[in-house]
Amino acid sequence: MNMLDLIYKKRNGETLKKEEISFFVNAVTNNSVPDYQIAAFLMAVFFQKMNNDETTDLTEAMMNSGEIVSLAKIDGIKVDKHSTGGVGDKTTIALGPMVAACGVPVAKMSGRGLGHTGGTIDKLEAFTGIKTDMSIDAFIQRVNDIQLAVAGQTSNLAPADKKLYALRDVTGTVDNTSLIASSVMSKKLASGADAIVLDVKYGSGAFMKTSVEAEELATLMVTIGKKLNRKIIALVTDMDQPLGYAVGNTLEVIEAINVLKGKGPEDVTHLCVELGAQILVLAKKTDSLPIARNMMKETINNGSALNKLKQFVQLQNGDPGLIDSAEPLLAAKFQHNVLAKESGFVYAINAEHVGKAALTLGAGRITKDSVIDLDVGIVLNKKRGEYVNVNESIAAIHSNDYELISEAEKWIRHAYHFKQEKPEEVEMIQKII
Ligand code: URA
Repeated sequence: MNMLDLIYKKRNGETLKKEEISFFVNAVTNNSVPDYQIAAFLMAVFFQKMNNDETTDLTEAMMNSGEIVSLAKIDGIKVDKHSTGGVGDKTTIALGPMVAACGVPVAKMSGRGLGHTGGTIDKLEAFTGIKTDMSIDAFIQRVNDIQLAVAGQTSNLAPADKKLYALRDVTGTVDNTSLIASSVMSKKLASGADAIVLDVKYGSGAFMKTSVEAEELATLMVTIGKKLNRKIIALVTDMDQPLGYAVGNTLEVIEAINVLKGKGPEDVTHLCVELGAQILVLAKKTDSLPIARNMMKETINNGSALNKLKQFVQLQNGDPGLIDSAEPLLAAKFQHNVLAKESGFVYAINAEHVGKAALTLGAGRITKDSVIDLDVGIVLNKKRGEYVNVNESIAAIHSNDYELISEAEKWIRHAYHFKQEKPEEVEMIQKII
């Protein structure tokens, strides 16, 4: 077997065998194949696609390319939640404590953000001093102690995916359903959870632009999970406007804390309750979704989720000041309101453009080595379906650099679309697979 044969075979639209896919992934992991052949192979997959069996074989081989985390020393059913990424997605920060407050262990390995979508590990750094680097033993100990720990992904988790993802990024081969599904699932499966809840997003701020594409990706990931003996469920959710109002690290953390204080945005709260209810059912806390939803809401009403967040932040060395403060001080030097130039209903808010506004201010990374400014970002004042009068503020720009405000404002103006008629309401959760 050699790499060139595999490239020809896939280029010609043939189906690859399990051992051929393993050969490819081993060669990638051992660096025994040059990048140009890997890139050619990825492009062949991009155009000729892979069937479900090939995609499962690719996932399994990538999962086995590095460390497989064992969470066996944690009691109970370990459920992981994964979002395919979006703008303003701060659900993990509220959802983790809600689920943990119901006694379900949350052992969450998260990533950093790249481009206009943020990562949970970056957001958590809003709690000054927080440590997310830890040994697996310390991680497990924390989950056993308080049912909740969040750690950065270990460097040896699915290393083949790391290399392939970096090459896909620069060869125009990211947006292929099989490549995305195998990339996400290899890391999830290697992270050791017994059951997985996927939040597959579609819309202007997501990888998948339509709900049909997102459904296809969700179905494929669920198929892979089931073939590899995991309990798994996927929600296909709307990301055609940012989630909640805040986009930017500390701003999003404050919004997540507000969810736990019972004063968060409706869409974020609803999504947390729905995802959490699915997790409770998979973790066998109840077999009734309505009961599970009530259990989730109760963790907000009785303050147990907020206490859990505080406990978690303190145990991971973070300063819980943001949680204690009734109205946290907004730390960016400049706050600039973007005023509407026309009146009408907000018909659409392009989430990617809002993400780009936040990126311009330094809230995200343009390259892997960029340093994030935690305090900057955007707070939307109007969401889809709301009426706006001329000169009303549609969004506030929080910046530490006056010079960047006009560029961010351009992105915000680009994002907002107004019409005289009210848009139809969009269900946040489009499908459960
Ligand atoms: N996130 C991943 O981890 N991999 C992809 O391919 C896309 C999004």
